[in-house]
Amino acid sequence: MPDPTLSQMDARTRAAWNGSSGQSWLDHQARFDAMLKAYRDAVLAAAAPTAGERAIDIGCGTGDTTISLAKQLGEGAHILGIDISEILLGRARERAKSEGLAIDFALGDAGNHPFDSRASDLLVSRLGVMFFANPVAAFTHMRRALSAKGRLAMVTWRSVRENDGACLPLEAARAFVKPLPQPDPEAPGPFSFGDRDRVNRILREAGYENISIEPFDAPLLFGIGATPDAQLDDAVANSFHIGPLSRLLADEPGDVRTAVCGALRKAYETRLTPEGVVLSGCAWILTATA
Ligand SMILES: C[S@@+](CC[C@H](N)C(=O)[O-])C[C@H]1O[C@@H](n2cnc3c(N)ncnc32)[C@H](O)[C@@H]1O
Repeated sequence: MPDPTLSQMDARTRAAWNGSSGQSWLDHQARFDAMLKAYRDAVLAAAAPTAGERAIDIGCGTGDTTISLAKQLGEGAHILGIDISEILLGRARERAKSEGLAIDFALGDAGNHPFDSRASDLLVSRLGVMFFANPVAAFTHMRRALSAKGRLAMVTWRSVRENDGACLPLEAARAFVKPLPQPDPEAPGPFSFGDRDRVNRILREAGYENISIEPFDAPLLFGIGATPDAQLDDAVANSFHIGPLSRLLADEPGDVRTAVCGALRKAYETRLTPEGVVLSGCAWILTATA
């Protein structure tokens, strides 16, 4: 019998990506895509798609990676982007259409979607696979969509501790907001694939072979603007809609939010560069065969 706690977790994930988390990605899509371009390019380099291959983009969101993949695979390619968020898929469909690309999109949970069996050559994902309540079951299910010679190439965040974008704002705001409850490091969420041994175990238990999990680091341009002041303001504003701190601040009164702004500005001053406020981003590139 399915574990009811797991389906509750999946329901929470679905609600978040169709609600506030999804809306935030939608509102800041261009910004996120620019910030994450290096991660898209790295995952597609690891995937090394070749003309005519059939591919699935897991947790495709607004379709940035799906569209790049479609361009690389060229005419006649068969690409499916799958996501649980209706609002994000809506944007992905619009973008593909405006680029004249024939991409299929499906609304569904990649952990149990009825993919054509053994029909795909490639599973890719940019930051879309850390949200399964039961990742071994989900990765096992996705493997069955791959042909005998099929392969996987995905990028996931490493731990919160290694990622400035998550821990620097939290640390700066610590004096003003109640601490986040110590998260279960294996609970579904952006950083749940932080532990390399766990990721290796998930892929192994899900039946993959030739598993490789390599670090990939690329700076995140978090605050932009014409002047250092504008860049700092932008980074502070960003903290209210990206990352774990944004969720803590959502229910705080105005005076707390004002105090946090001051603390964040100070913290971001330490990350000012001529390009803007730059935070460290630390990820894994996962590759494996079916
Ligand atoms: C961090 S966003 C990344 C979106 C996109 N890959 C990108 O890089 O722009 C995570 C995405 O995974 C999707 N997602 C989460 N759990 C999923 C699931 N079980 N099946 C399909 N998509 C899922 C979310 O709706 C969201 O679009």
